[in-house]
Amino acid sequence: MGYILEVNNLEKNYGDFVAVNKINMRVNQGEVFALLGHNGAGKSTLIKMILGLVNPTAGEILIDGLQYGPKSKDIKNLIGYLPERMNFYDNLSAWETLTFYAKLKGVSSARCKEALEQVGLAEVKHRRVGAFSKGMQQRLGLAQAIIHRPKLLVLDEPTTGLDPIGILELKEMIRTWNREGTTIFFSSHNLSDVQELAENMAIMNSGSMAAEGSLAKLKHDYKLMTRIEVRVSTDQIAMISSLERGANTMGQFEIHDNTLSCYCESQEKMAILQRLLKEGVEIEDFTVEEPGLDLVYQQVMK
Ligand SMILES: Nc1ncnc2c1ncn2[C@@H]1O[C@H](COP(=O)(O)OP(=O)(O)OP(=O)(O)O)[C@@H](O)[C@H]1O
Ligand SMILES: [Mg+2]
Repeated sequence: MGYILEVNNLEKNYGDFVAVNKINMRVNQGEVFALLGHNGAGKSTLIKMILGLVNPTAGEILIDGLQYGPKSKDIKNLIGYLPERMNFYDNLSAWETLTFYAKLKGVSSARCKEALEQVGLAEVKHRRVGAFSKGMQQRLGLAQAIIHRPKLLVLDEPTTGLDPIGILELKEMIRTWNREGTTIFFSSHNLSDVQELAENMAIMNSGSMAAEGSLAKLKHDYKLMTRIEVRVSTDQIAMISSLERGANTMGQFEIHDNTLSCYCESQEKMAILQRLLKEGVEIEDFTVEEPGLDLVYQQVMK
């Protein structure tokens, strides 16, 4: 399948200030990829370089194997972009706005109808954009981003300013476009959205790449363990205590009343449960607490 996006040693300096510092990054064809980092980390600068809107100080960007230069027009046809802030002409309707973008991108107006339906603006397409709420403007921004059916959809903080229902609908749109084959690259401050949507992610800190990979890989890299708790019936306390004495066969675990708990790698949890069952432990209940992206993010930023 290969990479839709490759970034090699990418740098952007503004005078003495290093906004993006020797970034390397790979985005697979067809995946959902998230870019995380504090305010000012360099996410939007990186995104603008990927879009060819900001010139890198150094480094290389490959989009579907192409480099900016003579191929810039081909690259722009491959990408759809929702910027952090979108400005529309207040006096145009949603329909007029979108047909304007369609002309720029060489797309038929029939496609405008489809795009407005997909983002849920079909009913209000003749209303002035100046009277649109923030969420409606965001939807119109999405419509112009997808109108030419881009292979790579780049969204800079797409959920900002949306109400909870708007966020759910946006996530559903992202999943649908991704199922249809579009690669999604989005930046976000919302860790639960990222955890839900992204297969892989990159975390930037002060212009540099602080961590990259799937949530599972990051949890492993930062040695964040899964906690399991197993409750047994009270008449089994003596039995599990004897297991504790033979702890070398079971790994480290603690016993409080009739609950046994331990930390393990996520993929080990079933083996631990099976082992307890094999030892003859009668399990009444168990809970599994997986570390989330919030913990990973905290560790990365330490
Ligand atoms: N045109 C510019 N001239 C000078 N400095 C800039 C310029 N554009 C960005 N910067 C600086 O580069 C740094 C990175 O900014 P950027 O907008 O990429 O951050 P970000 O990660 O997108 O932040 P946020 O989460 O707030 O959107 C900031 O310190 C910003 O002030
Ligand atoms: Mg930004």
